[in-house]
Amino acid sequence: MNAITDLMTEMGHEQVVFIADPASGLRAVIAVHSTALGPSVGGIRFWRYPSERDAVVDALRLSQAMSFKAALAGLDQGGGKAVVLYDDPTAPRSEPLLLAIGRAIDELGGRYIAAEDVGATPRDMEVISRETRWVSGLEGPGGSGDPSSVTAIGVVHAMRTVVEELDGDSRLQDRRVVVQGAGHVGTHLVELLVAEQANVAVADIRPERVEALVQSQGVEAVALDSVLEEPCDVLAPCALGGVFSVESVERLRCRAVCGAANNQLVDLAAGDELAERGILYAPDFVANAGGIINLAEEFVGYDRERALARTAEITKTIRGIFEHARERGIAPARAADELARRRIAEEGSGRWHPGDPAGWTNGEPLRTLRPDR
Ligand code: NAI
Repeated sequence: MNAITDLMTEMGHEQVVFIADPASGLRAVIAVHSTALGPSVGGIRFWRYPSERDAVVDALRLSQAMSFKAALAGLDQGGGKAVVLYDDPTAPRSEPLLLAIGRAIDELGGRYIAAEDVGATPRDMEVISRETRWVSGLEGPGGSGDPSSVTAIGVVHAMRTVVEELDGDSRLQDRRVVVQGAGHVGTHLVELLVAEQANVAVADIRPERVEALVQSQGVEAVALDSVLEEPCDVLAPCALGGVFSVESVERLRCRAVCGAANNQLVDLAAGDELAERGILYAPDFVANAGGIINLAEEFVGYDRERALARTAEITKTIRGIFEHARERGIAPARAADELARRRIAEEGSGRWHPGDPAGWTNGEPLRTLRPDR
């Protein structure tokens, strides 16, 4: 088993911070993957992990994906992630624990800017932000709020590009789309797809969420254990990551995969296998970039119209990835990985330190983010 620092070296991480606060019971990891393009941005996840090592590895993978996501979205920021080891993610977080996270983030001086992620609530983020101003995506004036509707809009742009690549026609009408996970993004996505007259089917471990969509949108419910094997034009994973491995790809009966979940592939070999089987894959960190694009707008003064216009550029990015994949004779997953690494290497400028300017501050040091706190 590799040491954590070996993994960091392999994946290109700059820094991993371990936090223990016995008074509040906080045990957490903050992974800063890259600040070459600017301060790292990424969510705080509260989750129960089988082991501490699993938590660290998750933070490493998720923060790297955030760097790649920002790089291909053309944003001047890097990738980071905070993972809190939390035995019952459905139990409310205590105030002392949240304040301790806030202090740990503050000590990084802006090298890591936090946002909401799985298990976190708007209230959690508000409490954390009492200790640090390096928190984004808050509700209220100047904040960009819940990103999931913009994420879903971005997935639809990606999906249109995918079906255009398959059949030369970007319309989603009458396409069968199977959505795994009817949470924040999945629900918005289903509504958008129904509005485009797609033929939608949904599965979720929480049956009441599926039932609500069956009632309100007239979609079909599909069984949880066979959702990935449903015949369809597009399979849209919108639950958790790790959906596709070399083995599980064999069972798929879709023509394409395009969804919001982060880290859908267990590894790049699973992406190769998708290509091998003729299943077109829209790389997750490109298809789901609407959320981070929306958040980044906050750093220059939030404007929803501008966020939506930039989200529409996902189409161009996905086309570029398919083209690069064709030229190089590689799978789209590898093409996206290559292009992201290339932008970081070519346009990045070393490590970002507290007090350095950020791309969005016109040469001023980064101290203007939500100056009210
Ligand atoms: P969420 O927690 O609101 O929704 C996830 C849904 O998946 C829940 O309804 C849950 O019951 C369901 N689920 C979990 N395991 C499942 C399984 N095995 N089969 C079927 N359903 C299952 O999360 P949210 O915000 O909708 O995010 C969904 C995914 O998209 C996550 O992987 C997240 O990291 C990613 N993402 C979300 C963004 C956002 O703007 N919220 C932005 C970028 C990525």
